[in-house]
Amino acid sequence: MTSVSTRPSFHSAHLASQPAAGFADVLVGLQYGDEGKAKIIDALAPGYDVIARFNGGANAGHTIDTPSGRIALKQLPSGVFHPHAMLYIGSGCAINPWKLADEIEQLREMGISLEGRLRISARAALVQPHHIAMDRRASGMIGTTGNGIGPCYADRAMRVRNDTRVNLMLGDLLANEADTVASMRNVFTCMINAEGGTSPWIAEMSDMLLSLPKVSETLRDYIETDRGWLIDRVRHGANVLFEGAQSVLLDVVDGSQPYVTSSHTVPAYAYVGGDLSPKYHRRTIGVAKAIMSRVGRGPFPSELGGERSAQYCHDASQKSVGAAEEQVRCTAEQLLRSDDPFDVGIALRILTGEYGTGTGRPRRIGMLDLAQLREVVKAHGVDCVYLNKVDCLSHYFHSAYQGIPMRVHRDVLSTDPLPDVLIYPGLNEHSLALGREGALDAAMHGFVDFVERHIGAPLAGIGLGPERASLITLAAHAVSPVTSASPRV
Ligand code: IMP
Repeated sequence: MTSVSTRPSFHSAHLASQPAAGFADVLVGLQYGDEGKAKIIDALAPGYDVIARFNGGANAGHTIDTPSGRIALKQLPSGVFHPHAMLYIGSGCAINPWKLADEIEQLREMGISLEGRLRISARAALVQPHHIAMDRRASGMIGTTGNGIGPCYADRAMRVRNDTRVNLMLGDLLANEADTVASMRNVFTCMINAEGGTSPWIAEMSDMLLSLPKVSETLRDYIETDRGWLIDRVRHGANVLFEGAQSVLLDVVDGSQPYVTSSHTVPAYAYVGGDLSPKYHRRTIGVAKAIMSRVGRGPFPSELGGERSAQYCHDASQKSVGAAEEQVRCTAEQLLRSDDPFDVGIALRILTGEYGTGTGRPRRIGMLDLAQLREVVKAHGVDCVYLNKVDCLSHYFHSAYQGIPMRVHRDVLSTDPLPDVLIYPGLNEHSLALGREGALDAAMHGFVDFVERHIGAPLAGIGLGPERASLITLAAHAVSPVTSASPRV
């Protein structure tokens, strides 16, 4: 039997009138945060029209060196210094309006205007004074950043407490500023009263509420009430790079409870928190670093010094011991030669500057864990990986290890391989120095092959120094920048 169609199908008629749609790539950290994602985004940004955030808030942080000085950004996407790129903050984020207005203002003072470039979903959750107070009070056990992110997401799910709506969104500030401020004040006051009328933060929170009208005036023009804003851009050809905050191992469900952040950090969430249909997904890009770190508590299988290091860093952050104090107490070069991994961890922290961007806390240090990376790559379908801080591996040549210690599954093909530590001998300082100049010798290629085989994904690039130029792209797997002939946004 033949079927006769007298009219064009929906698809052919519809597609003929549509411009080619764009796509989205998702970039996430594959370890415990602070893998140097901003640096990779900076390198990839020319290939995208929109850089978008989909989770977290002021608990994230990246420091960017610019010709006009150093700036620490927390909530704005990393593409701010690429004027062609639009910036989008999705509904999955928890926004601290005071800090966001401050970031916008700092950039304006540096001569960078975000007018016409920044859109923030009106449905992003609003961090309120009582969230910050609650988080600061309870930050000890998990080691949270004290930015109120957890309580904010908790209130989003709670919706109403004591007959008061607590899941306020950024759009509420626009729609009804007076009621929103009054509601925040009411919830904060109730909290203080329930605690006997005292809190070390009453004056600070009260000042925040007083300044909110000015802050919302700064943000007003950037708030986007159209839920389809990003979809429309992509349907008309824009290419999006989603920038994950924190890292997949800190995911609120997938990470090791309770030592996790409170948002979803896994790449699949980009399409929920970033307000786009997953049908536009192209690739998942992972970022890891060769000297691993973790802030806060929780499992860290490759930590140098194990539980001793975890406790030391916890105590140091409670006593506000940061880089300056630690460097006065310890000589990195001596510690590096110790045969105690705990000492080597301290030495590497000092030599490679592993202290929190926002908090200054000493980060726990670990050896490169290829076994763990392999599991993460598989679980999240990571297409390619950028490995930062490869140059820092050279410190191990001055340690008792005399090579690079790494946690690996020795037999990657076995069905139940057990992780093990091996000392990788085949790299030397000469190879790393050559690499910094852009020339990869056989030893460096050998290292790249070894890592790829053990993690089960290609390396798209390796970081051999902090400067832009020292990110070496491995051509075979690099994420190709897409040059657009005409602006698509
Ligand atoms: P919160 O996100 O402030 O609730 O903190 C929960 C956990 O996530 C703590 O262990 C934090 O140290 C960690 N964390 C949050 N944001 C970051 C980040 O940007 N880098 C690394 N760790 C983070």
